Amino acid sequence: MSPRPFEARSPAPTTIEDARFAHESEEEFARLLDFYGVRWQYEPRTFPLQRGDDGRILEAFSPDFYLVDLDFYVELTTLKQGLVTDKHRKLRRMRELYPDVEVKLLYRRDYVRLLTKYGIGAVNEQERMSVREVLFSASEIERRIGELGWEIARDYHGREPLLVGVLKGVTCFMADLMRHVALPVSIDFMTISSYEGDGSGAVRVVQDLSENIAGRHVLIVEDIVDTGMTLNHLMKQLQAREPASLAVCALLDKRARRLVDVQLDYVGFEVPDEFVVGYGLDFRQRFRNLPFIATVRSEPDGPDAGTEPR
Ligand code: PRP
Repeated sequence: MSPRPFEARSPAPTTIEDARFAHESEEEFARLLDFYGVRWQYEPRTFPLQRGDDGRILEAFSPDFYLVDLDFYVELTTLKQGLVTDKHRKLRRMRELYPDVEVKLLYRRDYVRLLTKYGIGAVNEQERMSVREVLFSASEIERRIGELGWEIARDYHGREPLLVGVLKGVTCFMADLMRHVALPVSIDFMTISSYEGDGSGAVRVVQDLSENIAGRHVLIVEDIVDTGMTLNHLMKQLQAREPASLAVCALLDKRARRLVDVQLDYVGFEVPDEFVVGYGLDFRQRFRNLPFIATVRSEPDGPDAGTEPR
């Protein structure tokens, strides 16, 4: 059976005020998208999965969100694992019937991690965190940055790039990278606001660049690209200022968590879908001064529980 065109709910809600969310997590996710200026529609379409002989829809799937400019759907799964199986089956069926439609599934674990990144959600304020596993030692980082610097110097030969860092996570990386690019370079920094979970407006430039970037060869330097929402937003802003070129160098690429597809021209390391700290990266402003990059674990409460990494 070839599927009929999917049914559209019209008009689909596009604001938090209009959407009647089934779960709190959906509303929180919508706030996050709003913050980064990612346009969404809430449950805009129902995809029939199975019809009876009389054409009636027997089974259907309505993904939670459609991200308008990115052209994909997101389904949040905050259910217990046991209940996810049925959703998997529906998703498989949906992919068979509508191969051109992209649906990304965010599991409860993904969702909690997403909120943890912003220091909100299911995270206990008192929670103690400590280093679990070193992913990249100081010498591994140094070696890889040497390679990146060499590639950048080769690619920008004859030009004078402007390295633009996004504070604060980028501090260590910028300091080391610029010393490995054997070219005349300039540097500049920006600070943009982080999502705070209170639905307070959109991402803001807290501190802008001091340089005019029109006609310059700009290389954005990032410590980590996770969902890609920060970079996506930033690239649009900087592109509007008409640089001669705009490229990205990220030390860490957490590709598994990408929501917005952004092109990374230089990548230091790919990291697993774990919370990482050190070498500029923080958890609630801590751990930035570690010379290595590590995953963290939460320690049980108690007087002797959890020690700060040295
Ligand atoms: C980190 C990092 C990126 C952003 C990437 O910044 O420096 O700018 O997250 O995440 P995304 O791809 O999901 O948008 P953070 O907000 O933690 O601030 P910080 O640099 O001050 O630590």
